[in-house]
Amino acid sequence: MESKTKLYIETYGCQMNIADSEVVASILKESGYEITEDIQLADVILVNTCSIRENAEQRVWGRLDVFRQIKKKKPQLTIGVIGCMAERLKEKLIEEEKTIDIVVGPDAYRDLPGLLENAGLGHKAVNVLLSREETYADISPIRLDKNRISAFVSIMRGCNNMCSYCIVPYVRGAERSRDPKSILKEVSELFEKGYKEVTLIGQNVDSYNWKDENNEKFSFGQLLEMVAQVSPTLRVRFSTSHPKDMSDEVLHKMAKHANICRHIHLPAQSGSTRVLELMKRGYTREWYLDRIKAIRTILPDCAVSTDIMTGFSGETEEDHLDTLRLMKEVNYDFAYMFKYSERPNTYAARHLKDDIQESIKSRRLTEIIDLQNELSSKSKKEDLGKVFEVLVEGYSKKSKDRLFGRTSQNKVVVFPRKNYNIGDYVQVEIIDSTSATLIGESVN
Ligand code: 5AD
Ligand code: SF4
Repeated sequence: MESKTKLYIETYGCQMNIADSEVVASILKESGYEITEDIQLADVILVNTCSIRENAEQRVWGRLDVFRQIKKKKPQLTIGVIGCMAERLKEKLIEEEKTIDIVVGPDAYRDLPGLLENAGLGHKAVNVLLSREETYADISPIRLDKNRISAFVSIMRGCNNMCSYCIVPYVRGAERSRDPKSILKEVSELFEKGYKEVTLIGQNVDSYNWKDENNEKFSFGQLLEMVAQVSPTLRVRFSTSHPKDMSDEVLHKMAKHANICRHIHLPAQSGSTRVLELMKRGYTREWYLDRIKAIRTILPDCAVSTDIMTGFSGETEEDHLDTLRLMKEVNYDFAYMFKYSERPNTYAARHLKDDIQESIKSRRLTEIIDLQNELSSKSKKEDLGKVFEVLVEGYSKKSKDRLFGRTSQNKVVVFPRKNYNIGDYVQVEIIDSTSATLIGESVN
């Protein structure tokens, strides 16, 4: 039997990129490629890239150095750059780095088989066309993650928000929603295969908006409910919500269905209304706090996490203090925290100065991280003595006698294995916590 061409995919960036790599794997498997996890065995290396911050791109350039070395020893190797950095830099990537054979943007993955075939014949190629329709709805992603418990399901692509700092609308194009029928089909198939959790993903899930044949509108709340009804034993998560669009409807649907997990990721970015305006976020500090109040009222046991960006154009010390105060007021369970990184051609790059010194950005970020560490540890302390239903995802890194999983609130719990297995729901009492995890004991 002729051996198949071996494909190795490396993924950087967000959940959407992870989901896209699974679409790419599916497209190429259909064309006869075989997926390998060993880069040394690869005939084709694809790197799915992120442009969100300068350092995300730096990491990829570093990997391209490594791929170049591999290609020196194996000249027939094909190297492709796909995803957001491909979209941003286009043919400049090939000009800059001769080792690259193909450059393919996020909406052009169906073209990969053809482009790779041509690359094999020595023709370098670029396809970075963005689409108004592409959602890869009919493609059944190949799950690259080994756990077989939890999967990402993409419900929309692109973004129309135009936050002034953000590269995403430029590299992922305009927002479009995926047909709910294809979403439900994918979720049902996952459940039948034994998956216990799905995370519905999109740049802004709250603006999910599908119109059916009769021009009948279909909202994110409705979609969420339909997915939750696939089975009460299937956990449903979603990400990312946008504070300007997050509706009470969604919160009420969550309250109605216990299997929709009690966790909302609601990126604030800043606690200063002045800065939020410069960021073109479309909400004020007060509006954001009102959304938090709605969560606390409708879903009292819901965890809240956020993204915070520090050092945006013109951010004063008072703005920074507003951010710290907001974090305390909300009491975040978890946060991703970043320094502002100017991205070429965004509104901010064109109209606002990246004028906060690096040393000040660093100091503010440290203050933000220190505060969040306190808040995270407080949030874990509050769980002591409580019992949570944990979905087991795997063995603890340290020992096969211990399992790890997550609570509905998305907190990681480690507990003794006993007779439990991966994929089980276990009632666990929290008895202790470390900086990153809760420690528990199963209870009957
Ligand atoms: N610089 C720093 N962080 C950014 N993010 C988005 N754009 C930038 C940028 N230019 C952060 C935001 C967003 C998260 C995914 O990345 O906090 O919510
Ligand atoms: Fe990175 Fe944004 Fe692209 Fe995700 S959508 S990979 S975060 S640039």
